[in-house]
Amino acid sequence: MTLTITPLTPHTGVEVTDLDFTQPIDRENCALLRRAFAAHHVLVMRDQHFTPDQFKAAAQLFGEIQPHDKKERHVPGHPGVDYVSNDQIENGRRIIPGETFHTDHSNHPCPPKATMLFAVELPSSGGDTQYVNMHDAYDDLPDKTKRRIEGLKAVHVYQSKYSPRPLGQITEESRRKLPDPGIHPLVRTHPENGRKALFLNPVRMESIIGMEDREALALIEALMRHATQKKYEYRHKWRDGDWVLWDNRSVMHQANPDYDMSERRYLYRLMLKGETPA
Ligand SMILES: [Fe+2]
Repeated sequence: MTLTITPLTPHTGVEVTDLDFTQPIDRENCALLRRAFAAHHVLVMRDQHFTPDQFKAAAQLFGEIQPHDKKERHVPGHPGVDYVSNDQIENGRRIIPGETFHTDHSNHPCPPKATMLFAVELPSSGGDTQYVNMHDAYDDLPDKTKRRIEGLKAVHVYQSKYSPRPLGQITEESRRKLPDPGIHPLVRTHPENGRKALFLNPVRMESIIGMEDREALALIEALMRHATQKKYEYRHKWRDGDWVLWDNRSVMHQANPDYDMSERRYLYRLMLKGETPA
């Protein structure tokens, strides 16, 4: 089977068609997919049909599974496959996972290199996922800003006291198993494509080492405003059968709660192990 790879924007995202990931993928196609992932950061694999176990098997074409911090939120009967949905209500407030721009699990010393979702049930409209390209955002910074942030490190905790949104409850058992905070550079170099990228996550960043919180928050806010401009964005409109894989080292992402909440939105979710950001 010959796959087709088509760019979705000039900078971020490709569509992959004509490949059934429940079947064995040959070495040549694997290499093509991995190259496309390193160069384009978001892969949209169309028209897939996965059981939870098939999804997990396909995920491992790209790396090793990284377990979710919330051990309790997995597909019933499949402890190795997580999900996201819009059915979680806490303290009278609906929790939409990923509602503001972020990169996943950056509280880990080795954050996941990639996250993926597979659409099981979608609302009739809305619920897009937005991605912004953090390589291009870095490249476009004024030299003065690049010099200012070079070498700065931020402390990423499970949930920053400055987080713009709550994360939803976590069981005591899962909380006990959380790793030590991640201490990561604001600018990291991608180990596969060699490009520098901004590495930001207001949900988890609690401080910048050697900086007053007020100054750190102002800096993070300015960098976020820059990085989330439309020119860096690929906005994914979900279709049935979409399997979307993104590179947490290259893009930030956010979910949109702009659909009819009486409709169910349910996707399988997995992450892949990454390396220490450098
Ligand atoms: Fe996320």
